[in-house]
Amino acid sequence: MAEPSRAPRSAAAWSPEQYLKFEDERTRPSLDLLAQVPLASPRRVVDLGCGPGNSTELLTARFPGAEVIGVDSSPDMLRQAHERLPHCTFIEADLWSWMPEPGTDLLFANAVFHWVPEHPEVLARLLHALPAGGVLAVQMPDNGSEPAFTVMRAVASSGPWAAAITHAPGKRKELLRPEEYYDLFRPLCSHVDIWHTHYNHLIDDHAGVVEWFKGSGLRPLLAPLDAAMREAFLAKYTEEISRAYPVRSDGKVMLKFPRLFIVAVR
Ligand SMILES: C[S@@+](CC[C@H](N)C(=O)[O-])C[C@H]1O[C@@H](n2cnc3c(N)ncnc32)[C@H](O)[C@@H]1O
Repeated sequence: MAEPSRAPRSAAAWSPEQYLKFEDERTRPSLDLLAQVPLASPRRVVDLGCGPGNSTELLTARFPGAEVIGVDSSPDMLRQAHERLPHCTFIEADLWSWMPEPGTDLLFANAVFHWVPEHPEVLARLLHALPAGGVLAVQMPDNGSEPAFTVMRAVASSGPWAAAITHAPGKRKELLRPEEYYDLFRPLCSHVDIWHTHYNHLIDDHAGVVEWFKGSGLRPLLAPLDAAMREAFLAKYTEEISRAYPVRSDGKVMLKFPRLFIVAVR
């Protein structure tokens, strides 16, 4: 694979503080994914795209006898993860080309591979590297058709910021259909389990919904804008989010969030 273009680190940098504003909601899919991992005592477990260490912490609790390693491309996220779990090893690497050491029994990837170029090929390559019985467990948001994203694309393409955003690097990658992942992974695996879960997160207000996406999907779109343009973009996005998500009877906003889960056993 030819090396893909990617966002400069400073432009679309991940912010642990922004990301963790919704820590409970963002960690819940990790718990649901981990519950389906059919391993009792793996030797080495790697948390791919470990972020601030919230998913890594779950792995250390479930597998106290394993060597648990976190891998991420963001130095800020890794710093936070190391503070949280000083006894774990954290490695700065790009998953597009990273490979596991022999003896790795679990590759766990919560909410990262939709950011990795050519992720289906990368996941197949990682599966190849696992020993028999090894597990690749992946969760990716499958919310590209939800109002939060249709509105995001519409706003991005129609304001004075459109030209700056069009070619912004580092935007989220499209997912395949479940059948396509199945056909890709099944020849490499003894078992492949794929499912969706739709979470209905309760957010305090529309500004909260915008805060959520400032920590994830909006990052690469906001990165090329100057402060004034960014503020104008966010004002427009907030207005459209308010239209798309009516408030509930208690004043909260229900953010429907479909996610795709894959547990593949080598
Ligand atoms: C949404 S956070 C997920 C954090 C954590 N796993 C969780 O469950 O909440 C995504 C993380 O993936 C990392 N990431 C994105 N692209 C990456 C890549 N190509 N290689 C390594 N890490 C990457 C980001 O730096 C970020 O920390």
